[in-house]
Amino acid sequence: MTARLGDTAPNFTAQTTEGEVDFHQWLGDSWGVLFSHPADFTPVCTTELGRVAKLKGEFTKRNVKVLAVSVDPLESHHRWIKDINETQACTVNFPIIADADRKVAAAYDMIHPNVDSTATVRSVFIIGPDKKIKLTITYPASTGRNFEEILRIIDSLQLTVKHKLATPADWKDGQDCIVVTAVSDADAVKLFPHGVRKIKPYLRYTPQPNRQATPVLA
Ligand code: BEZ
Repeated sequence: MTARLGDTAPNFTAQTTEGEVDFHQWLGDSWGVLFSHPADFTPVCTTELGRVAKLKGEFTKRNVKVLAVSVDPLESHHRWIKDINETQACTVNFPIIADADRKVAAAYDMIHPNVDSTATVRSVFIIGPDKKIKLTITYPASTGRNFEEILRIIDSLQLTVKHKLATPADWKDGQDCIVVTAVSDADAVKLFPHGVRKIKPYLRYTPQPNRQATPVLA
């Protein structure tokens, strides 16, 4: 099965290191990050799960729940967590799914057989409170994910659902945003009182709403 942008995130029940989870119920009104890793007791995955544990506060601040998945069994996950905590100086503070029957992997197309016929690749799904898939990224096994980039994407997604804005290349929270082309110049001035800087009819910048105390645009 494929799970594409705009699709309803497939629901499932699964055994996790924090008990059985019904995914949609567990998400509640939160945003979610569901991310798969190839196998327990592997070096890159160990650093990734440690990094997510340390960033948990940043996810929580943004009303995001994180859920990891691999096809290894629960008993293995529990033993591995001890290693993650020891080597990454953290406390794993989010559930890890034991997807032994590959139900979750299949629903989210996390096994790419031309790479490995059994292990999950490094997939990332960001899911909105409406349970729709907002982002998918797939990394190869040899490349650890940049979780600050995942947070940056969440900042952009959360901003752009509230405002008629998009975010430019390499944008970071607090930087100028792009007024979407569907907004007329007349409406843009009303919607974005801190100013609209017009470079081209289709390229207009405005300071990020709620981040700008005084108008700064010339
Ligand atoms: C790792 O996490 O280090 C890893 C896992 C599977 C293949 C290659 C690397």
